[in-house]
Amino acid sequence: MAKATLYFPTDFKWAAATAAHQVEGNNTNNDWWAWEQTGQHVRGGQTSGLACDWWGAGFDRDLDFAAQMNHTGHRLSIEWSRIEPKEGQWDSAAIDRYRTMLKAMRERGIEPMVTLHHFTNPVWVVERGGWETPDIVPLFERFTAKAVDALKDLCDLWVTINEPNVYAVLGWSQNAEEMVEFASPSADFPPGKNDTQLVFKVVDNLMLAHGAAYQTIHRVQPPARVGLAHHMRLFDPARPNSPLDRFCTWNRDRLFNQIPLNAVIHGHLDRPIGLTWRVGNLKNSVDFIGLNYYSRDLIQFDRHNWEGILFGRNKPNPHAEMSDMNYGEIYPRGLFRLLKRLGRYNKPIYITENGLPDLDDDQRPRFLVQTLREVWKAINENVPVMGYYHWTLTDNFEWAEGWNLRFGLVKLNPETQERTLRRSGELYGEMARRNAIDDELVYRYTPELFETLFPG
Ligand code: FCB
Repeated sequence: MAKATLYFPTDFKWAAATAAHQVEGNNTNNDWWAWEQTGQHVRGGQTSGLACDWWGAGFDRDLDFAAQMNHTGHRLSIEWSRIEPKEGQWDSAAIDRYRTMLKAMRERGIEPMVTLHHFTNPVWVVERGGWETPDIVPLFERFTAKAVDALKDLCDLWVTINEPNVYAVLGWSQNAEEMVEFASPSADFPPGKNDTQLVFKVVDNLMLAHGAAYQTIHRVQPPARVGLAHHMRLFDPARPNSPLDRFCTWNRDRLFNQIPLNAVIHGHLDRPIGLTWRVGNLKNSVDFIGLNYYSRDLIQFDRHNWEGILFGRNKPNPHAEMSDMNYGEIYPRGLFRLLKRLGRYNKPIYITENGLPDLDDDQRPRFLVQTLREVWKAINENVPVMGYYHWTLTDNFEWAEGWNLRFGLVKLNPETQERTLRRSGELYGEMARRNAIDDELVYRYTPELFETLFPG
């Protein structure tokens, strides 16, 4: 049949992404574990428990699925609280375990990308003030040096920090749902504070730690490639012709999307009122840009309070198709728009996360075809996209939503640890094998898209 084939570049990475706490299980020595045990913060009092049992047998089983799906990359994170359980004490067994994981990936032809910080902290770090104080910067730098030195023969793609903006907003602003419509009414991250000043301090410290880690990684492993996984939401004015909606949209974009970019590209730490602070080692501190993209929000001016005046409020889009539990609008074109915007920085781009919660997998196949077509279009307009890391490989513990949101290409029953490849997983595996989307695949998996994609 092969009427049309959308080919990807030869070295394009077909991959998935995970995070330590969400998959390993029994991460008892970090702040998230403690947060879960209170029964107050995660939907229905759920806990991560054994998660996907990656510290046990689950890891190999999931990696077999990744191999079966022809993945050529995987993004995972390593858990600071396992590697440095007490200040200055290093656990060589934990390091060995990560070495085994990275080797197991390489044996299956899967190139690892390792994230050093994905939302969790050792309890001792939090007791010392966590991310609210710049004292964390040398602590994180020391951990980075140790981890990179121990793993550098197995990994040369590093992400310093996952989503500084999301981490700071969810942990330090109770208006989180206003700023970032993670539909969750319980979008509740430790330490669960509500202090706008601290949100900025935490972002500053995360960015300073990123800068320090960037330099450290290159000192320990000069040829390494280092980036940040930056979460961008697309904001559009609810009423495109309203100057007030447009102003709020612009403001929100600047604050949420642009601050981390300005930091790693220009070395600026921006403040909302236009003040900027220059930091030497932050300028040009990424070798690639990691983009985490999920959804978009429509923003409408709201004169009732100062946040609404400056940043507007989210207006539900009556025409949007939503993913499970109103997590967000399904808007694949947003990825193209963001990739075009990032293209101007002349850095390689990895899509370090993208996906949707869809327990019964009735939306994900279509989502994958549409999304990867947007990626293909961006590449064809010369945006240097190096790979796509689907969130996630296997259903995992989704933070404050617990087990309620299922993002996996592989379905997991957390009680029995039983796994099944979803139909979307099969489809993604086929795209990876062909390094392309073609009419035969679209016809087989998403016939409803056939005419739009391959007209005539
Ligand atoms: C991202 C997080 C990841 C997961 C997905 C759904 O913001 O980095 O851990 O929670 O959202």
